[in-house]
Amino acid sequence: MPAPKARRVTAPDIAARKRGGPPVVSSPLVMVTAYDAPSARTVDAAGADMILVGDSVAMVVLGYDDTLQVTTADMAHHVGAVARTRPRALVVADLPWLSYHVSIAETVHNAAQLIRAGAGAVKLEGGRKRLEAVRAILDAEIPVMGHIGLTPQSIHALGGFKVQGKELDAAKALTDDACALADAGVFAIVLECVPDAVARMITESIAVPTIGIGAGRHCDGQVLVWHDLLGFGGTDRKRPKFVREYAALEHAATEAVERFCADVRAGTYPSSAETYHMTDQMAEAFGLYGGTAPEPERRSERANNEPERELLQ
Ligand code: KIV
Repeated sequence: MPAPKARRVTAPDIAARKRGGPPVVSSPLVMVTAYDAPSARTVDAAGADMILVGDSVAMVVLGYDDTLQVTTADMAHHVGAVARTRPRALVVADLPWLSYHVSIAETVHNAAQLIRAGAGAVKLEGGRKRLEAVRAILDAEIPVMGHIGLTPQSIHALGGFKVQGKELDAAKALTDDACALADAGVFAIVLECVPDAVARMITESIAVPTIGIGAGRHCDGQVLVWHDLLGFGGTDRKRPKFVREYAALEHAATEAVERFCADVRAGTYPSSAETYHMTDQMAEAFGLYGGTAPEPERRSERANNEPERELLQ
C-alpha cells in the first residue's frame, strides 16, 4: 500500500511553530522560492516548509532588472504552475507592486486571485504603512506574510538594493513595523537585508516567526531564491554575500546542452533506439507504394523485429 501523503502545511502551522506548536514543520523554518512545476517539485521533495512564488520571478526567470514589472495575472500564472504539483509545503504568493497600493477593494480582489490560483497565503512588502491592506486581506480570511527591511518593490524610493536598519532610528522603525504587523495578525514576517542584531531584536520582540534573507542566523527561519541556491544566477549578476550556492546547475546545464549539440553535429543523435521504426511488412509496403524504405541496417538493429513499444500513448 502506498504511504499516506503527508498533510499539507498551513499558515497556522507556521505561526504555531514559534510557540512550540506540533512539529508539522521544521524549526528553524525553511522557505525556498519556486516559479514553475520543476522548481516546485525540487523544493517540496527536499522537504522545505514553504514555497514562495516570489515576484523575484521578474528578475530570475523573466530577465527584468527589478521586480516592478510583474502583474497579479503574471503571478497567478506562476502560482498555478507551482500549485498544480500539489506540494506538501505551504505555497506563499507575492502580491506584486501596485496590486495592494491603490484601493482596498483592488487589494482584496488581487489577493483572492492568487488564492484561486492555488496559493495558501500571500506576502506583501511594507510595515505600518500597509496595515490597512493587511487587515483587509486578513478580513477576507486570507493568511498574510509580512516583508520588511529591504523591500525590492521600493527600490526607487530606497535608492537601490541596500542593507536597511543600519542606524538606530531605522532599526527602531523596523522593530515597530514588525510589532505592528504581528499585532495585526500576519503569520510570519520576512526580514530582508538587515544587520543580524536588528533581526535578533525583532525576532525576540514578536510572537510570529521571522524568516531571514541576508538577516543573519537569529531569525526563526531562512529563505533563499531557487536560482541563487542552485547556481542558476547567470554570469553577469553580482551575487549578494548571503547567497550560498549548493550546486552549479547553470554550468552543468550548459555542459549538457553542449554535449547534445556535439552529438547532433556528429550524427550520433538520434540512435536507432531513440527512433520510431515501421514493421518490416509496413516498410516493404511503403517501398511498393513509392516511399523511401527505412535504412535496412537500422531495421535489423531491432531485436527479433518485435513491434515497437509505444512511448507516446
Ligand atoms: O520575491 C522574492 O523572492 C522574495 C524573497 C527574496 C523573500 O520576496
